[in-house]
Amino acid sequence: MKVIACYSNKGGVGKTATAVNLAYALSTAGVRTLLCDLDPQGAAGFYYRLKPSKSLSNSRFFEDTKRLSNAIRASDFSNLDILPANKSYREFDVLLSKMCTDHSPLGRALDRIEFDYEVVVLDCPPNLSVMSEDIFQTADAIVVPVIPTTLSQRTLRQLVKFFKNNDLSIEKLHCFFSMVQVSKTLHRDTMEQMRNTYGQRFLTTQIPFTTDVERMGMHRAPVMVSARNSPASQAYLALCEEVVSRVFKT
Ligand SMILES: Nc1ncnc2c1ncn2[C@@H]1O[C@H](COP(=O)(O)OP(=O)(O)OP(=O)(O)O)[C@@H](O)[C@H]1O
Ligand SMILES: [Mg+2]
Repeated sequence: MKVIACYSNKGGVGKTATAVNLAYALSTAGVRTLLCDLDPQGAAGFYYRLKPSKSLSNSRFFEDTKRLSNAIRASDFSNLDILPANKSYREFDVLLSKMCTDHSPLGRALDRIEFDYEVVVLDCPPNLSVMSEDIFQTADAIVVPVIPTTLSQRTLRQLVKFFKNNDLSIEKLHCFFSMVQVSKTLHRDTMEQMRNTYGQRFLTTQIPFTTDVERMGMHRAPVMVSARNSPASQAYLALCEEVVSRVFKT
């Protein structure tokens, strides 16, 4: 089982939109997929019309295998299950810092379902915290959406520095440009600069800015379902293929 985290230390960059569509694209390719929402906002579950998982509060996520399995819901699509989040997940950092363990609690929790799925997609909250460190340890690949602007450039620098300072594998980072508006000079220039700086760490695929993605909230479905022919849907499919080719190569 491979774990793919949709992560950024910056908020509002397209992590959830990516997790929701990447999980859907994997499932349509016949890959048994679990979308695991780690963000107390619970947006990933919302997009799939699911209620928060009340029974999975506090440390139960990490310690209670049975409740974790029972909290997993089937989606409306074959090969795709969802583990919705709930508000108590905002306590994860406190819980994890109290857990005196050398092992990754998130990794151990996911190990318990490793024969049920080929891929787990994590929708991560936007911060650089104890939980994020566990995500970095656990994930085989960390897919990082980057809006091509100055602040995003700065945030990615901080993330790469964190990886270097903590001996984490930079190779796990697979960045891509999100919400791209090629008509903007700032976007074009920033993308060129960042591709020169980070080389292979950037995927070729970029996701265009389009209201089709914003409308996912109205349709409560991946854009790949609600607007199949949207440029964003085509781009998410290409992103999925690129991520799969990198993740299953290792
Ligand atoms: N390609 C896109 N084009 C237009 N709007 C987009 C696109 N991707 C995401 N959005 C919109 O931007 C907002 C933030 O997206 P999303 O929730 O996926 O980001 P996030 O990184 O998960 O945010 P958070 O840090 O709050 O979890 C949402 O309103 C979403 O609809
Ligand atoms: Mg999100």
